[in-house]
Amino acid sequence: MLGDSEGSPGGPGPRLGEHVRRQTAALCEAAGTGKDAALGLLDTMLEPLAPLSLLDPPNARSFVSDDHSPVELSLAFSPGAAPVPRVLLEPGYTDDMVRSGRIGLRAAERLAGRGVLSCARLRTLSDIFFPAVPHGPFALWLALEFPDGRPRAKVYLNPAADGPGRAADAVAEALARLGFGNAFAALRRQAGRPEDFLFFALDLGAWPAPRVKVYVRHRDFSAAEAAGVSRAVAGDHPGRVEEFIGLVAAERRLRRRPLVSCFSFTRACPDRPSGYSVHVPVRDYVQDDRQARDRAVDALRRYGIDDRPLDRALAGLTSRSLDAGVGLIAYLTLAHADRCPPRVTVYLSSEAYRVKPARRSALGAPGGGEPGPMLAGR
Ligand code: TRP
Repeated sequence: MLGDSEGSPGGPGPRLGEHVRRQTAALCEAAGTGKDAALGLLDTMLEPLAPLSLLDPPNARSFVSDDHSPVELSLAFSPGAAPVPRVLLEPGYTDDMVRSGRIGLRAAERLAGRGVLSCARLRTLSDIFFPAVPHGPFALWLALEFPDGRPRAKVYLNPAADGPGRAADAVAEALARLGFGNAFAALRRQAGRPEDFLFFALDLGAWPAPRVKVYVRHRDFSAAEAAGVSRAVAGDHPGRVEEFIGLVAAERRLRRRPLVSCFSFTRACPDRPSGYSVHVPVRDYVQDDRQARDRAVDALRRYGIDDRPLDRALAGLTSRSLDAGVGLIAYLTLAHADRCPPRVTVYLSSEAYRVKPARRSALGAPGGGEPGPMLAGR
């Protein structure tokens, strides 16, 4: 069990903390930046999780990743620059959402104590996202990224905390409190049902233009429909959005797992989103991670981005071969904001507990593409 304040002793064997430290170090080495800053802050974030034994079952059904590891790594690529290493964590790694929120807030406060972020904006939203009887699937996630080695923080909150049917209202209220109230009506039309609002995220800390981000899930969507949704943001990206989804998912409609759109808002433009990204759950549209890696490389090259750090990161994160499993590469994302060149982010699973076996038959073939049973780890 996860203690509220003290770390539990955990069982024998490799520990979650060591595993995540090793992977984060490898990710930063692959990116060529951020290692000292990341390792210096990771213990602060991991405090209650570090002693958990990887020989025990996952402590909770964490929604962070498919094997319920409470951590996900990513590399954010842009043309002509070093990729930015990032780590996402669920500090309150328990199925008790009251405690999970409390532990998560305490982790944010520890980062505030280290000068990484301020909790002020988060506090103004606490009654919305931390009700007395919270619903899952999570309460609070924290992410750190290290552009040029300096830490920047983000927090992810659950719009469905007060119940799935209340998720749209939660987003409306939170946007209004932060000064983006006029943006909600158009956003509401992007979500089929209230519970399709998946995350409400805030940049906290040393951001030049801190964003508020709203994530929307699209069930059974085509690439063309996603391009249509992306037109909520001005720019010439819709064609690229359509092309990217075709490249990554290679299916006409995305039915295996939904696409996720992210709309971002900044103070300079409070009435409509100024950034759009599309997250493609590549792991459900490939046989194995070799194929996912090849699609990532195709996407990176398409936008003139050096793909070599990706292979370094994959080799640093796991010693298994890429065709032995699927899900190490969880999502591929195309991001567009403020006339910047397109950015591509690769989300990498920690696989701390399990590796999902590769699919034997080609997707689309009879029996192909069904999620297989999870096999014990590496
Ligand atoms: N694991 C969840 C999912 O696959 C949530 C999640 C983790 C996610 N990382 C993400 C969603 C990146 C979108 C993009 O949906």
